[in-house]
Amino acid sequence: MERAGWEEAFRRYMPLVDDPQALWACLYTPLTPCLWVNPIKATVEEFQAYCAEEGLRLEPISWYPGAFRLLNGERPGATLPFVAGWYYVQEEIAMSAVVALDPQPGERILDLCAAPGGKTAQIAVRLRPTGVVIANERQMERLSSLRATVDRLGLLNVVVTWYDGRLFPAPEGIWDRVLVDAPCTGEGTVRKPSQRWRPVTERFRRACAALQRALLRRALQLVKPGGIVVYSTCTFAPEENEMVLDAVLGDYGVVEPFSIAGLRAMPGVTQWAGKSLRHDVGYALRFWPHLNDTGGFFVARIRRTDVPMPASALPSVLKPRVPMEPATRTEGIAALCQRFGFAPELFAAYRYWMRGQETLWMALPEVESPAGVIPESVGIPLLSYKRKHIKPKTAALQLLGREARRNVLELPERAAALRFVNGQSQNILADVEPGFVHVRYRRFELGCGLYGRGQLHSQIPRGLQTLIAQNDHA
Ligand SMILES: C[S@@+](CC[C@H](N)C(=O)[O-])C[C@H]1O[C@@H](n2cnc3c(N)ncnc32)[C@H](O)[C@@H]1O
Repeated sequence: MERAGWEEAFRRYMPLVDDPQALWACLYTPLTPCLWVNPIKATVEEFQAYCAEEGLRLEPISWYPGAFRLLNGERPGATLPFVAGWYYVQEEIAMSAVVALDPQPGERILDLCAAPGGKTAQIAVRLRPTGVVIANERQMERLSSLRATVDRLGLLNVVVTWYDGRLFPAPEGIWDRVLVDAPCTGEGTVRKPSQRWRPVTERFRRACAALQRALLRRALQLVKPGGIVVYSTCTFAPEENEMVLDAVLGDYGVVEPFSIAGLRAMPGVTQWAGKSLRHDVGYALRFWPHLNDTGGFFVARIRRTDVPMPASALPSVLKPRVPMEPATRTEGIAALCQRFGFAPELFAAYRYWMRGQETLWMALPEVESPAGVIPESVGIPLLSYKRKHIKPKTAALQLLGREARRNVLELPERAAALRFVNGQSQNILADVEPGFVHVRYRRFELGCGLYGRGQLHSQIPRGLQTLIAQNDHA
């Protein structure tokens, strides 16, 4: 771990910590990887059986059902069940923000800073069977990781949008809950084995705090009176945490007391840099790493009052894009049923969307974006129309592949599955018709391949491909 500088940089926080020695000791130990099982793709029992076969040791996380620490196995993001969407790898303490948000079925939730989508996915899973998450991200280059999370986990209740969260254009007062998992200086992530720590400059911290204030302000404008905004960061600095709340909340929001059974936390600080802060910021939770052997995290659960907020001074900028609209061409579904032997009723439960004429997207029926918000995607891609034929999408086959009765190519061995998920072509003799096939290995639905003349060509899109080495647990 890169240590140079951080001891000095973190010394300013020692007066806030109950046991500075324990914190130092903890910061020097790398984090244990953590993951949660995706109930849309697998049961906890199926996942545990897989781990037992592979010799992977799990420790359940008491405060989050279905989540585990992985005690051995170095690369949980490089396994076949990972590719098939059975689980999501997430820093343990980061999961606490969605526990604080407490989404309820049927609600409309906005995740203002969403990529790579861990918390979006937690919300989407908790919302079922009804409700919608709008997952917004400003950085185009991070949208692909967010889209990959939605596709891999098969999240049919997520709409992805691409806006600056400070200017998010949705109608105000319609959201039940808004999550602001803010960009920050990331001091709480120093235990990540991959992390290269660099000292935070004051200039960068001030820029982060200004962005955080603007994001929180917009969230308070968007949420319903009486609704919940959760503000979280993975940094220690009060300038990015309690002081942001102190500067923005005014009469518009109140920090509520909350706790998470099984997690130790310290209260938010109410004095910093010679300044006294409003008393309710003390109800926020500071998860110092040594308290639960995790990364560092800050979470505040804010209840919106009914005091009207002044309109945003900044104009909403809509990017000129082709809107996504309810699909007018769904004939490809019949072709898909024909090719794979899917029961047509399987598709009756969804609603279909298109942008232009090429890709058909599937989502739960009640899922759409509010007026004025142009989505990047609604649900997951089902198929695309290519001149005379249709091409099934890997995300859809990974979700529905268990129901396929024809043209399923069962890979004979692990090495073949690894080649497939790495995006390679290979020679295979299989009893399927030439053309698009659904590829499976054991219980893992791996997605779309193109078969002909004894050759299987992987059609897994780059964003879902995973390089798995022979000696990884797969
Ligand atoms: C802490 S990360 C979010 C992690 C995510 N919630 C998760 O659980 O996977 C903060 C994200 O905010 C994005 N971001 C930065 N500025 C933003 C803005 N003005 N509006 C929306 N998103 C922004 C960053 O690109 C980054 O992806």
